[in-house]
Amino acid sequence: MASKMRAGVIGCGAIAEHLHVPDYILCPEAELVALCDTVQSKAKALADKWAPAATVYTDYKKMLKDAELDCVTVALPNFLHGSVSIDALKAGCNVLVEKPMATSSDEAKKMIDAAKKAKKLLMVNQSQRRFPAHLKAKEVLDSGIMGKVLHVTAMFGHAGPEFWSPTGKWFFKKKEARFGAMADLGVHKADLIRYLTGKEISEISAYYTRLEKKNSDIEDNFVSCLTFNDGTVGTLCASWTVKGMEANYTIFHCANGTLRVCELPGQPLVANLVHPECTISFEVPPPVTNYEGGWGLDVSGAFIRACLGKEEPFASGEEGKKSLEVVLAAEKSADTGRSVKLKH
Ligand SMILES: NC(=O)c1ccc[n+]([C@@H]2O[C@H](COP(=O)([O-])OP(=O)(O)OC[C@H]3O[C@@H](n4cnc5c(N)ncnc54)[C@H](O)[C@@H]3O)[C@@H](O)[C@H]2O)c1
Repeated sequence: MASKMRAGVIGCGAIAEHLHVPDYILCPEAELVALCDTVQSKAKALADKWAPAATVYTDYKKMLKDAELDCVTVALPNFLHGSVSIDALKAGCNVLVEKPMATSSDEAKKMIDAAKKAKKLLMVNQSQRRFPAHLKAKEVLDSGIMGKVLHVTAMFGHAGPEFWSPTGKWFFKKKEARFGAMADLGVHKADLIRYLTGKEISEISAYYTRLEKKNSDIEDNFVSCLTFNDGTVGTLCASWTVKGMEANYTIFHCANGTLRVCELPGQPLVANLVHPECTISFEVPPPVTNYEGGWGLDVSGAFIRACLGKEEPFASGEEGKKSLEVVLAAEKSADTGRSVKLKH
């Protein structure tokens, strides 16, 4: 086999720990050779656990210069995604950047342009596209058995980022996060419903507020009404104040019945059909992971295979930009009190 892709991770916080680093270790075509975090102990802890031969850096520019990398994952606070990804692309790396890919549409475009100029791949970790229930839902919707999607309900909520990344104070600072629940969680579902329906959102009317996260200058709740380009309607909501459960579901009311994705406990994908009248509970394979707490979505593997031309990127820069623009339109709507049209 040809030599492995030399991979690095910039930002060794919660998502690097739960997803990117373990996924790289599972990927036979990659070798994780460099880990970078301004807090050295975080990078070192991940190296000690997963890749003892990897070099630890605190300065990502030094890492890009010295580590001879083929590809890099950017898992940083949102405001750094654009500039660091562009630096990595200019240094000749393929880039997998976390969601939301940027803090503005212009910044996202600059990232896409930088990738084109460098002739490198830019991918966005819209990780909901990788969940087994979502992959199966895509198959079911594409099969046509549900008929035309008429009405979509998408909701993503949990108790807040402080329960996910205890050191991630930046999540609550507008200057660093740019958005609160609306993009942290809302961009996931905006992307997922675009991906699963194959339709674009053409108009959005939104509202956001801060109900509980008082030590913050950012919204913790977001609700919106959507129209898609074929007239389909829907709602898209996100919250950092959901207690006692994680709300992470999507429901498609279609011409032939309803497809319930991760709505019912223990039943990841259920179709309630009217013709013939029946309920189908689909089997969904469990994620394959190498440690407890790992998500097992094979995100890094999919990125590496896309770099090698073995498969299509699951979310390109262009796709990440479109999903980001839904959130930006939602923000504009909430700020102006008017619905906002999207040009996709
Ligand atoms: N795709 C998903 O499902 C998913 C899930 C969670 C988080 N995320 C995204 O991942 C990104 C990171 O989130 P997180 O939860 O890991 O946050 P985190 O705060 O736990 O980790 C961020 C890390 O970046 C480090 N850092 C900050 N500035 C740096 C710099 N200049 N150079 C190197 N390291 C630096 C911090 O020290 C920290 O360790 C965010 O954009 C978030 O939205 C995505």
